[in-house]
Parts: sequence; structure tokens; C-alpha cells
Amino acid sequence: MEGAISSPSNTRVAVVTGGNKGIGFEVCRQLASGGVMVVLTARDETRGREAVEKLKGLGVTGIFFHELEITDASSISTLADFLKSSFGKLDILVNNAAVGGVEYDQELDTNEEKFGGLDFHQRVEWMLKNAQEPIGAAKKSVQTNYYGTKHVTEALLPLLQSSSDGRIVNVSSDYGLLKHISSEEVRQELNDINSLTEERLDEMLNKFLKDFEAGVLGPQGWPTKFSAYKVAKAAMNAYFRILARRHLAVRVNCVHPGFVKTDMSMRSGVLTPEEGARNVVKVALLPDDGPTGAYFAKGEEASFL
Ligand SMILES: NC(=O)c1ccc[n+]([C@@H]2O[C@H](COP(=O)([O-])OP(=O)(O)OC[C@H]3O[C@@H](n4cnc5c(N)ncnc54)[C@H](OP(=O)(O)O)[C@@H]3O)[C@@H](O)[C@H]2O)c1
Repeated sequence: MEGAISSPSNTRVAVVTGGNKGIGFEVCRQLASGGVMVVLTARDETRGREAVEKLKGLGVTGIFFHELEITDASSISTLADFLKSSFGKLDILVNNAAVGGVEYDQELDTNEEKFGGLDFHQRVEWMLKNAQEPIGAAKKSVQTNYYGTKHVTEALLPLLQSSSDGRIVNVSSDYGLLKHISSEEVRQELNDINSLTEERLDEMLNKFLKDFEAGVLGPQGWPTKFSAYKVAKAAMNAYFRILARRHLAVRVNCVHPGFVKTDMSMRSGVLTPEEGARNVVKVALLPDDGPTGAYFAKGEEASFL
């Protein structure tokens, strides 16, 4: 944690989860370069502090580190206390931290040149072919990508409500689109934001994990590849649509960054982290009268379906 922080009262304050690398790191850089005061968070103190030093070395100012493990309640509440005492408000929360929910063979050759001759679809095929999805990784994906993100948001919501223009930006994925779930019943429930509840989302995620363990994902209408990642992101989208309706004073949107060359994609993506982050930052800095409860892809508003 940094010492006392002084900021002009009109400076916006942002928190980025998983800011030590990949898209999150670039989101921190771009927001801070645009004059936003950024709290770069990371679950590992060394990796987080190194990221902040790297940004400072690039001439970026107004950037601070705070530890945050998004699946740990006490880590979340320590961050909330720090923000409250340092700033008394939060203007932008970028929920970026996530895991892929899959495992790859450590021996795989994934240096950039390997993907050089492959088009978008061939790169996606490569990932589908090489990713293994053990139950442990699937559970971690649901715990991190859905519950971790939800718990961070719940804890920081009062601070976002203390801002005159609070915004929550959820780094989602096109894998969270409802088209990936073949059960029409599940698709309809997740899309019926007027009736859907958080309790029902819990029940659906529990059923998904039970079906996963029972080896009946396909017959039950769940995705069978990157299944936990897709289901957790779809649930996350639904949760934030509910939140957007409930808290009209805070702008809540989801964004697909694109297929980005990061550790999560084993560097197989087609966009640089800088390009992917630009899509996220664009949503974070939407004009005051911009949408809420929306999904963005390729820099434009798009459908959750
Ligand atoms: N890359 C793509 O093509 C792509 C496509 C669509 C959506 N996305 C989304 O973009 C976001 C960023 O992904 P990325 O590609 O930049 O992945 P990445 O390079 O693997 O970075 C993921 C970040 O999340 C952090 N993280 C993971 N679990 C955490 C936890 N429990 N608590 C705190 N931090 C945690 C990681 O920290 P450590 O370094 O400590 O592991 C890391 O900082 C994710 O939400 C991802 O789903 C990515």
C-alpha cells in the first residue's frame, strides 16, 4: 500500500483488478495517461509493484499499487478501506482480473512466431485443441470470474455511489455471449433480466458444476469447450445487467476486449494488449449520457445474445 495520497477533488479515481499484466496493465497505463488516478491492483505484491515501477519508468504518473486477491474477502475489504480513507469515493472500477478455466501442456511452443501464419479461426482452433478443462480449473473459473468479480463490486459499490459519475466496466468476453449455451431454457433465463435474481444465478452455477462433474455438460445444454469460462462470463454479464437496472446512478457496462495476445490466450490472439485495452478504456470513458447495462464489442454497443 502507498502512503498518504493527495489528489485534486476533481481528479477521477479508478481501480483496475488484475493490473499487473496483459490487458489490465495496459488499461492502467491508458487511464493514467489520460489523467485518471489509477490504483493498479494485483494479487501478488511483487508482480503488482513491479508493474507500477514499469509504468513509472515509462513516464506514467498518478499510479498506485494495492494488493487485491479477488477471491479473498479480507483482501477485498482491505482495499475498500484503503480507498475510503484515501479518496472517499471511487469513480471507475474496471473488473479485469480473470482466469481462463483451462490448462495447457507446459511443453507447448507458444512463441509469437508460431502463430504468425495462422488466421483468427486457426488460432481459436489451436486453443480449442490444446486446452484441457479439469474440474478444479472449472471451479476456479466460476469462483474467480463470477464470484470474485461480484464480491469486489459489492464491496466497492458504496464508494462508486459516492462519486458523481460512478462507472463499472466488466471485462467480459464474446465467449460469455448466450449463443454459446445450447439450452434454450438457460439462455432465456439468463436473458430475462426483469425476472432473474442473484439467487437463481447461484442455483444455475451450482447446477452447471454438478453437470460438469457428472460428465453431462453437452446433454444438459451447457458449452463443452471452455465451458466454465463461458458460463461464468455469461453469468457475470447477467449479474451486471441486473445491477445496472438496480443502481441507475452508477453506469455499469460489459466489454469484450477482442482476441488479445496475453498469457490467458497463450499469446495466440490477434490484437496487442494495447489494442484490447483501448476497447475497455473507451467504455470506461464513455460520455456522461452514455448507456448502462450494455455490452460492447469491437468498440461498439452489441448484443448479449
Ligand atoms: N486475452 C484474450 O483474448 C481475452 C479475450 C476476451 C476476454 N478477455 C478478458 O480480459 C481480461 C484480462 O485477461 P488477459 O487476457 O489480460 O489475461 P492475463 O494476461 O492472464 O491477465 C489476467 C490477470 O488477472 C489476474 N488474476 C487472475 N486471478 C486473480 C485473482 N484471483 N485475484 C486477482 N487477480 C487475479 C492475473 O494475476 P496473476 O498475474 O497474478 O495471475 C492477471 O493480472 C479477463 O477478464 C479475460 O477474461 C481476454
